[in-house]
Parts: sequence; structure tokens; C-alpha cells
Amino acid sequence: MANLTIPISQNSILIVDDNPNVRRAISRSLQIENYATRQAANGEEALKMLAQYTPDMILSDINMPKMDGIEFFKAVRNNKKWGPIPFVFLTSAASPADIQKGKELGVEDYLTKPIDTDDLVGIINARLLRSSEVKMSHINQAYLETVTALANAIESRDKYTGGHVDRVTTYSLWLAQELLWPPEHTRLLEFGARLHDIGKVIVPDRILNKPGKFTPQEWELMRKHPAAGVKMLQGVSHLQDILPYIYHHHERWDGSGYPKGLKGKEISIGGRMLAIADVYDALTTARPYHPARPREEVIQFLRLQAGRHFDPDLVPAFIKAITKHPPLI
Ligand SMILES: [Fe+2]
Repeated sequence: MANLTIPISQNSILIVDDNPNVRRAISRSLQIENYATRQAANGEEALKMLAQYTPDMILSDINMPKMDGIEFFKAVRNNKKWGPIPFVFLTSAASPADIQKGKELGVEDYLTKPIDTDDLVGIINARLLRSSEVKMSHINQAYLETVTALANAIESRDKYTGGHVDRVTTYSLWLAQELLWPPEHTRLLEFGARLHDIGKVIVPDRILNKPGKFTPQEWELMRKHPAAGVKMLQGVSHLQDILPYIYHHHERWDGSGYPKGLKGKEISIGGRMLAIADVYDALTTARPYHPARPREEVIQFLRLQAGRHFDPDLVPAFIKAITKHPPLI
């Protein structure tokens, strides 16, 4: 029995050329490479097809009747939905003027007819890879924007700590850079930094904005914010790896922190990094209970607390990182 299932991973290519022999030959080569193909004889026909389906890539001839490749390309790029589809021109060797015209419009790739199958597959694979990377980075950007909106909503309630989350994030990223962290880990740390105090949602405004000292009960509630943050985010699949960062940002290297009193490397690396960034920002900015302290004085404090409050290996790296940049405040 014939297998009618189309593999989900199969990419679809739209081939636009007025010569049916060219279309068929390209289509055959691509089907052998497991691409699904559709064919159109000119730009007008192709636009009609695009209204019905979205290919992963378009290969288009330039000289065609009714609507030529250049006009077709402009129509595709002017449409928001089709704009990101990779577009490759098929051209004959004798048409440098067409290539120039296309280049001015931003076309990056050309294949010269007769098409070499290896070139064709090579270009298609490279363009599809790039296109999936761009899609991925848009998704990541969307995640980050959502997370930032959430973090800002919490911070906006706290009238004393304006910009704290942004600065803690920047300090953490500088430290990650100093430690030569790879981009994917750095990205996770950025999420952790933005969300580290998200659990403060459980603390009422009157406590959050209290100018004086907390009562023991208020203090007890404040100390629950790391666990509350983890509880809020535990259902979010792409944030699983940073939950320990949030949970541990008030732990101390010597075991005197909260909520668990973890010691040394029992504390996640992100938690240890956020702890330094968080305290550094708290001390260098004015709070109701203390004025802003000069950077040099806070750096001395960090040195003094290496091996007590903070990871002794991270403190020198943090100091090196922040002194490479101009102060944020
Ligand atoms: Fe906190």
C-alpha cells in the first residue's frame, strides 16, 4: 500500500518559471532530496498560490510573461506574511543587468541556468538553515520581551528600586562575558536576572515600600519571594533551567543565606552570580535605609565578603567585569 504520509520535516519549495521543462527538472532534483515542490508559470500564478499556502522558500525565474521575477519579488517582500520567505533568483548566464536589478532590491542569491543540482541543494540548505535561525531568534526575542514585561510589572510597584532589574541584568551579563559563558547559557542567565524578584508579587505594596525596618512577620514574608518566584514559573517549560537561579539568589556562600541555607557550590552558579549583582546594585543605589555608596567602597565590601556572602572565585571576575564598563548610575 502506498504511504501517503508527508513527513512533517519536509520543506516546501515554490518553483516559478515559464519554461515547464526547467520547472520539472528542478522539481525532480529537489524531490530526490526530500523537498516537497509546487510549480507556477509566472509571478501572477505564483501570487495566487501564495494566497493558499506558504512555502519555506521561493525559486523564481526573472524573465517571465504576465508578471516577471522582479515584480513578483517586490510583491512578495511587500507582504508582511511572505516577507521572511527566502527568495532565490534563477537567471541565465547572459543577464548581468537582471542580476544588478535584483541586487538593488536586496536579492542575495542567484542560480545560473542550467542549474547545477549540487549548487541548488547547497544554496537551499544554507538559506533554510539561516531562515530557521532567524525564526528562532525572533521566538527568543518574544520570550525575552514577555519576561521583561512581567518583571517590569512587579518592579513598578516598588518605588525605591527603579531600574534595579535592568542593572542586575546588565551586571550579570558582564560577569557571564568575563567568565566566557556561551551564548545559550548567557541567554538563560538573562532570563534569571530579569525574573529574580518576580516572587515579590506576594509582598503587599505597604511592606514593599515601607521606609523603616521590617517587623519579624514582614521579614518572614519577604524571605518567601524566591520560593514564590519558582512556584509562579514552574509551569513554564523554557524557564526550567533558571528556577534554581531564582531560588538561590539570596543564598550565601557560607550557608547563612535563605531560603535553604545552602553552602558553596550547593548554590547554583546563576544564584551565586545574581547574588553579587543584586547586592552590588542595592549598595550603589540609594535606598530608604541607606544612601548610595561610592563604587570603590562597594568593591571593597565585595572583596571582604568573598568566601562569606559570595563565591570567592566569582568576586574578582565580577570586579574585573564592572571596572571594564562605565558606571550605570
Ligand atoms: Fe530578591
